Amino acid sequence: MFSFLSLGFTFFKMRLSSNVIISLCATLTHFTGFVQGEDTCDNDSCQKVQPCREFNIKKIGPDSKSIIYGEAHGRLGNQLLGYALLAHFQDELGMEAYINAECRQYLLGIFTEDSITVPVIDSVYCDPKKIPFTPYHSHIREILTDKSYRTGKVLQFFPTHPKFPFGYRPEDHWSKEQEAMQTKYVHFLRETLKFKPSIMTKMKKTMKGVAKKLGLKPKEVTYVGIHNRRTDGLKFMKDNFQQDPLDADYFHDAMEYFREEYENVAFLLVSDDMKWSRENIENREGDLFFVSDGNGDNPESVGFDLAILRYSNHTIITRGTYSMWGSMLCNGEYYTEYGSIVPTHLQG
Ligand SMILES: *[C@@H]1O[C@H](CO)[C@@H](O)[C@H](O)[C@H]1NC(C)=O
Ligand SMILES: *[C@@H]1O[C@H](CO)[C@@H](O)[C@H](O)[C@H]1NC(C)=O
Repeated sequence: MFSFLSLGFTFFKMRLSSNVIISLCATLTHFTGFVQGEDTCDNDSCQKVQPCREFNIKKIGPDSKSIIYGEAHGRLGNQLLGYALLAHFQDELGMEAYINAECRQYLLGIFTEDSITVPVIDSVYCDPKKIPFTPYHSHIREILTDKSYRTGKVLQFFPTHPKFPFGYRPEDHWSKEQEAMQTKYVHFLRETLKFKPSIMTKMKKTMKGVAKKLGLKPKEVTYVGIHNRRTDGLKFMKDNFQQDPLDADYFHDAMEYFREEYENVAFLLVSDDMKWSRENIENREGDLFFVSDGNGDNPESVGFDLAILRYSNHTIITRGTYSMWGSMLCNGEYYTEYGSIVPTHLQG
């Protein structure tokens, strides 16, 4: 029923993407200054924003589009997942979907404003705290397949609840419906999310520079992005899943694999711990480039690292949702601690 590859991928997802994903807080965070009201807009160059509306439950009839709101927290991996889900509900299920301001702020540090197409709830409704949301904690399959969810409902997607401390976790929702949704939203994000020009410029310059150092044209190089997630991710995996960090030999073996499979390989390593990477991962063939500045708190750096993975031909990844996004957005072959996975479109 499922191909070996999708099973392999599921296994990998199950083991790796165990961070907090998306959850709702009891209280909404308001970012003052985020909603650009008339009072802060005193010249022609700033966009006029619609004044907010009062939510009125009486206006939600049985045939009105359902409203669905989800709140993402944490780092980029989780923010992207929250955004991807709400975008899917909006575009594929035809619901009125909203993200939280934190999610948009986070994405705006990395992507262009016009590429973010799901609105922030606070920019539409004056007082979202008063909206009487019904929590959605069911299996993802239900909302994807049961059409009654699409009209007349006012839903919160996986609000925080003692029974769901990690919010929505993909590995708890394995199904062919989820797999199909994922394929769709990865494709959608690859098409629509545009990195900021400053990030694109830096990424292209880096890739060109690497080709030059190898005496090749960029199109002749097989770029393999390496994401080495460490710092707080190591503690998370140890505490929650008793998994020890991947050692230097994991990377040495992975690089050897790509050198054997492809021509003119260049490895572009990004990490939240560049110091450990430089000290431990050996550049045995002169084809490894430490390209990141490793500053996980700077959106430009986080975005640059993701752009490197996205525009590489293949990836070598570690654990966590950021690594997972790097490999999915790249869409090439990816090497994990469970071996190499070749997406269907690359199979001969
Ligand atoms: C208009 O207002 C925005 C936001 O306050 C500001 O960044 C921009 O420089 C202003 N432009 C002019 C032409 O005054
Ligand atoms: C790798 O990807 C780049 C685009 O990002 C492309 O120009 C290049 O031809 C690809 N390399 C190979 C060997 O396919």
